[in-house]
Amino acid sequence: MTVNNLTVSYNDEGPDDAQVIIFIHGFPFNKSMWNMQVEALEDHYRVITYDVRGHGGSDAGRVDFSIELFVDDLFRLMEALKIDKTMLCGLSMGGYIALNAIEHAPKSFNALILCDTSCKADAPETKAKRMKAINRIKNNGVEAYADESLSNLFAPESFATMKEEIASVREMIVNTSKESICKTLQALAVRVDTCDKLPDIKVPVLIMVGKKDKITPSSEAQLIHEKINGSILHVIGHAAHLSNIENPYDFNKQLRKFVDLVH
Ligand code: MLT
Repeated sequence: MTVNNLTVSYNDEGPDDAQVIIFIHGFPFNKSMWNMQVEALEDHYRVITYDVRGHGGSDAGRVDFSIELFVDDLFRLMEALKIDKTMLCGLSMGGYIALNAIEHAPKSFNALILCDTSCKADAPETKAKRMKAINRIKNNGVEAYADESLSNLFAPESFATMKEEIASVREMIVNTSKESICKTLQALAVRVDTCDKLPDIKVPVLIMVGKKDKITPSSEAQLIHEKINGSILHVIGHAAHLSNIENPYDFNKQLRKFVDLVH
């Protein structure tokens, strides 16, 4: 589909007339990270997954990236698919996009699922780490970046038990271009804080976080939970940052219970 003059790669599964749920992946992954969630929901829901600009099969375009640009792409995709209202599920960067999207168009969303994410902008030391990562990627390439990222993404015990899943996440990272990774790191470093806007969210919200998440730890999820009235917080055991991949059983159980309840 062409959106904002770019080719955007998306999947649209489940009955056409069912309640819609859109999934937004984290950085630097792609829509395939949601395969197990699509399977868990497509019997009763219209489940849309798409590749954020510069990731997976979506074009990058020529301009610099920003969370606001990613949000605009989401709104244009919804328009093109004629979706007025949807549930929205985002993991990490997907959560930053979801929080920004609901702030700008609260009427377009009827529920939020925020996974392994944060409402805070980058601290100065995180910004500095991102700038160093950009330099390392420019010098050493994406493969080395993928290898150094994996140890932060998964719980230590998963390296023995989830070899296939870890290999597929590595594949997603190395299939993202050097330019897109650097442009996204830059966009993440300058993103704005959405914490003050959280009390304005009036739709049902489920917050999930891997117990061993080191990138967006459970304290970040707790903060979001405290600021959104009536939100539900669930900590996923045996999982780090990619809780939907590391513990799909618990993740999908909570997800399905929540969407069935609110819809
Ligand atoms: C992600 O999974 O989207 C990233 O870890 C987000 C980030 O680096 O802030």
